[in-house]
Amino acid sequence: MATITVTGFREAQQTLSIADLKQSLYDEGAALMDRVLVTLHGEEHRRRRLLEMKIFKKDFFAYYETQVLPKVIRETLLPFVAAVRVDLIDVAYQCMVGLTADFAGIDRPLRTEAETADLVRLLRVFGNAATIGQFKGSREEFAALKASITQGMQEFEARYFNPSVARRVALVAQFRQGVIAEDSLPRDILTLLVRNEEQVDLPRDMMLRETAFYFLAGAHTSVHSISHVMHELFELCARDPAQRARLLAEPLYLQRCVHESFRLHPASPVSKRRPLCPVTLAQGEVAGVDDTVVVSLFQANRQVDAFGEDAAAFNPQRAKSPPHMPYGLTFGVGVHSCLGKNLAAGDIPKATTDSNTHQYGTITLVARELLMHGVRPDPQEGPQQDLSTERETWLRYPIVFSLP
Ligand code: HEM
Repeated sequence: MATITVTGFREAQQTLSIADLKQSLYDEGAALMDRVLVTLHGEEHRRRRLLEMKIFKKDFFAYYETQVLPKVIRETLLPFVAAVRVDLIDVAYQCMVGLTADFAGIDRPLRTEAETADLVRLLRVFGNAATIGQFKGSREEFAALKASITQGMQEFEARYFNPSVARRVALVAQFRQGVIAEDSLPRDILTLLVRNEEQVDLPRDMMLRETAFYFLAGAHTSVHSISHVMHELFELCARDPAQRARLLAEPLYLQRCVHESFRLHPASPVSKRRPLCPVTLAQGEVAGVDDTVVVSLFQANRQVDAFGEDAAAFNPQRAKSPPHMPYGLTFGVGVHSCLGKNLAAGDIPKATTDSNTHQYGTITLVARELLMHGVRPDPQEGPQQDLSTERETWLRYPIVFSLP
């Protein structure tokens, strides 16, 4: 029952590519994570991934980034900017909750402040399903946390999932009868699942968890990343105030900073796997079926041989990084590598990239909008880290805006 931790960059890549290692990071969060895409293995995983990949198409990213995102981000920020003094974590949750609910296929019929607040609350509860494996509190607190996830899922099912799935079943039936055209169907995960219910063996309880998983996977990781990116940008501007103008004038440079922050602060600091049979790892040691293999994305991303002597520092100008991986292993590698990577991080620029048509990713666009409103850390109250988890997470990050 040993735990083998892999920290080298190349070793981590190799380990995550071993087919006989099965996902095990989310075992404790089963109320939400049981048999969702990221916890499936082998053929069942391959079939569901192939199906869901259909949503993640290049034309969809372009449409999303030019038509959907800017409007949602701007509208979400307006009341916060007017309030002048707010919490960055609240801002990030509000930006992401609507975007990912739409993406997952969760209708928001009321679109009121109360409805958004309710979804943010559920999202925060669901976040525990992904991180409970790293919880550091007592047994009683652990049990209470587990119970809150189950309760959250029941509320989510009754208030949001059931009406959303019923609407999509009706729309798909109308489409099959020729009453409506295909492009009238919502372009989201739940619609895709409803259309392919029989092919991928998806009973309703599994569809519920899959939808909740997408809601969580898109939003929770992004909220975490926004807070870390802004922290790094604040530090960068404190070291060199001229950087603020450059970040606004050069969106490709801002994206470079975002990728550098992704590298230093992976939303999931570790991946965990369990061998299905004895497996020889990259450094030659054998992991047996009772062992756990932990791949430290956090440490792998700070390896000097992969990222240079200053690997532990935030340096958007760094000369050395593995090809096509400026953010290291933050989005995973292998069969479970992140499907939402392009949505969150955008394309990696090339020498020929046109900054006017480039796809930047959600996090760069949110950071840009915040900077345009003159965002700064609140001089009266410092940020606070979450000490209840081994993950590095900002619990509160008070900020102020200086521009309307
Ligand atoms: C900054 C943002 C994000 C980060 C850092 C991130 C990170 C990750 C990582 C590390 C994994 C692999 C887990 C493992 O190997 O155990 C993963 C998987 C996944 N991510 Fe993301 N993610 C982000 C955003 C998103 C978004 C926006 C979506 C969708 C809208 C998404 C959807 C998924 C899905 C569906 C998987 C499972 C893929 C599979 O198992 O086949 N992620 N993500």
